[in-house]
Amino acid sequence: MRRKIIAGNWKMNGDQAFAREFTSEFREAISGFSDGIELILAPPSVYLDRVAQNLEGTPVALAAQNVSEYESGAYTGEVSARMLKDLAVTYCLVGHSERRALYGDTKETVVSKIGRLCEQGIQPILCVGETLEQRSAGQAEQVVAEQLTSVLDSFNDSDLAGLVVAYEPVWAIGTGKTATPEIAQDMHAFVRQVLAEKSQELSRRCPVLYGGSVNAGNAKALFGQNDVDGGLVGGASLKVNEFNNICMSMG
Ligand code: 13P
Repeated sequence: MRRKIIAGNWKMNGDQAFAREFTSEFREAISGFSDGIELILAPPSVYLDRVAQNLEGTPVALAAQNVSEYESGAYTGEVSARMLKDLAVTYCLVGHSERRALYGDTKETVVSKIGRLCEQGIQPILCVGETLEQRSAGQAEQVVAEQLTSVLDSFNDSDLAGLVVAYEPVWAIGTGKTATPEIAQDMHAFVRQVLAEKSQELSRRCPVLYGGSVNAGNAKALFGQNDVDGGLVGGASLKVNEFNNICMSMG
């Protein structure tokens, strides 16, 4: 049985008051979710510690949204994997399309960042996905395969033991245009096939999440697909009631 995961990516939103209110309401709701769902929150890095404190004693895990590709040193403005470990961070997003498009994260930087995370035992959530142009040109699978294999070819099976993949079609992120459950299922099955070329065990075990305009209305149909093991939720993770309903829809 693969783990079921719901992760909220706050992106660059919120403040201390928001973090306090969100976490206190979220805490109340957790007991109503079905057992066995792993819950993850990815607040901005400056709020990781506060969110961790507010959620102490709950099973909610913390994710960072980014990490430096370097270990330590003169890299002004960067946050290292060791610092994240120090804050009890369990997961870290890598290769999010916003990082690839706006901050120049390449396949090589993605590999370096995952390397730093593996050294600290932090589980990478590797984001992959195609643009609308690439999908229209029939290149969606090729793009996703390349994003995956550049990582899979760079690590051995034990490094990848904690890997989580998130399929986030770029055209669905923040647009309100969710992939249909069929499109999501097809790509998730394809991701699993690419993982199997590296290792059958990895393919069987690695959770593959869907991200891109997930909301309380579409979550159930998406999460009901065989190869969709949960969601990476952006905008809807900023509204605690909506996020709670998304968590509730994973039975
Ligand atoms: P939205 O849910 O706002 O489309 O964002 C998805 C995402 O990028 C999560 O990482």
